[in-house]
Amino acid sequence: WMTRDVPLISGKLHPKTFSSQSHTHTSLIFRFHPPVRITVYAISFQLKQDSVVEEIFAGRGVIHFRVSRNLLVQKVLEQLCQERHKFGVKSELFDGLKKGTTVVEFSSPNIAKKFHAGHLRSTIIGNFIANLKESLGNNVIRVNYLGDWGMQFGLLGAGFQLFGCQEKLKNNPLQHLFDVSFENHSSSERKVYVQVNKEAENNEVIGQAAREFFRQLEQQEHQAVLLWKQFREITVEEYQQVYKRLGVHFDIYSGESFHQQQAQEVVQQLQRQGLLKTTEKGTGVVDLSSAGDMSSYSTVLRSDGTSLYITRDLAAAIDRKERYNFDEMIYVTDKSQGIHFQQLFQILLAMGHSCHNTNNRLCQHVPFGLVQGMKTRLGEVVFLEDVLDEARGRMLRNMSQSKTTKEMVYPEDTAEKVGISALIVQDFKGPLGSDYKFDWDRILQAQGDTGVFLQYTHARLCSLIHRYGDGEEGAFDPSLLLDQRSISILQHLLRYDEVLYQSVQDLQPKHLVNFLMTLSHLTASAHRELPVKGSPQAVAQARLRLFSGVCTVLANGMKILGITPVKKM
Ligand code: ARG
Repeated sequence: WMTRDVPLISGKLHPKTFSSQSHTHTSLIFRFHPPVRITVYAISFQLKQDSVVEEIFAGRGVIHFRVSRNLLVQKVLEQLCQERHKFGVKSELFDGLKKGTTVVEFSSPNIAKKFHAGHLRSTIIGNFIANLKESLGNNVIRVNYLGDWGMQFGLLGAGFQLFGCQEKLKNNPLQHLFDVSFENHSSSERKVYVQVNKEAENNEVIGQAAREFFRQLEQQEHQAVLLWKQFREITVEEYQQVYKRLGVHFDIYSGESFHQQQAQEVVQQLQRQGLLKTTEKGTGVVDLSSAGDMSSYSTVLRSDGTSLYITRDLAAAIDRKERYNFDEMIYVTDKSQGIHFQQLFQILLAMGHSCHNTNNRLCQHVPFGLVQGMKTRLGEVVFLEDVLDEARGRMLRNMSQSKTTKEMVYPEDTAEKVGISALIVQDFKGPLGSDYKFDWDRILQAQGDTGVFLQYTHARLCSLIHRYGDGEEGAFDPSLLLDQRSISILQHLLRYDEVLYQSVQDLQPKHLVNFLMTLSHLTASAHRELPVKGSPQAVAQARLRLFSGVCTVLANGMKILGITPVKKM
């Protein structure tokens, strides 16, 4: 209404809109920047009142719009009824937003290395970004870029040839690969590998075997490639199981290995473009300094001619652009890789691949902070599965007292979903760039701003609707929802599109988390004060309609965050 009918002041509005309530009115208050302040009175005289805005008056630097409550109730609920899971995303706010192909690259664990909390963060943050972009109408391609190449495969291959067991590889692949390649402590058998790893540093024979295996891989030698393929396939299958539990899927499982060959072509291209310099040590580098004095550079080629992490990333980016012709690509990793991506984008640009659109955003790195202290009962987290098992186990114990749990057929399933939502909300509450300390007890609390509380609110609404209906049949009288609690909820719902808009601007999930928390708190008090049971039929109907609307938006928002809303808890 503001921007369509009153071009006079559109664009000059302070980004903040305030809502205020009194017993009889609901106002929207617009604050203006100082230069416009003087004209506020003049502007307010030119604005017409209508059926939406019942009164307009000016104050010091602000204009108040008194909105008709009746209409507010009617419009919001009508829209909710019609749009359902599209509520908010059809807003005019998104008209100007380009809808195109978005590649989101996330999770990207390393085969046969520990899955750490950072990979879990990347998984859930990337999933959120992909869900958000998708809900706003973009064509999203979800890519998992596995760490499936590099010298560590030499050690893994050599380790497996020496100590591996096909049987164990089939039964418990991640564990077994981890055992043959890395530091382990428990069984006597594993101790051998600890020694092997230690020895690999000093013992020429093992070091030699590792280098030899990797050489064979790089040369595409049949046996080595076969074994490597097997490692990779089994690992991907195993990960897919765990991603399924998390409600995450990928369109593409790519990896560093895919771009191994292309990486050499990239080096040649850099050479042709005069961007490659050879150092005294024989490595190939790209000078990134503005003065051309090598005060900052990136190594793209080892002295033995093999490629590096960044070389493969260059090849991958170029390949994806050709393959998907994306409009934007988003990489989600911890912030320690900030410089890596900065250099990656810089080299791409130097090579003539534009990697920035007008918003500076064709390629974008979304960095996040570290999580400290994510441990399970068994100790340090080694695999993603451990975290999910722990969340489910703890949640199941917390739930075991409740009557509803006792009636559930699959309480583990609910415990799993609620446990995961606790992990997600804890992670999404603050700015992504911040580090945080992980605390199982705190994240699993039913009260306070936790994922458990969101799930609890959703389940309560579902059971109310299940028992009494969603209030959508029969006549609806908006004047029965003019009380303060209902109005606060409806006004809050009205802000949902703004929150999505804000989220898509900075890709931070905290806006949506805060919105859903406030919605849940408002709902908790409405639940107490606006009973359905025992109210006159028409009042009960109107309230049910309100609660059902809340339930829809809550579920929509939770799904974007990557949370599966539960109906019972
Ligand atoms: N596998 C890497 C790691 O665990 C993350 C990959 C990030 N993506 C990329 N295109 N470099 O650190």
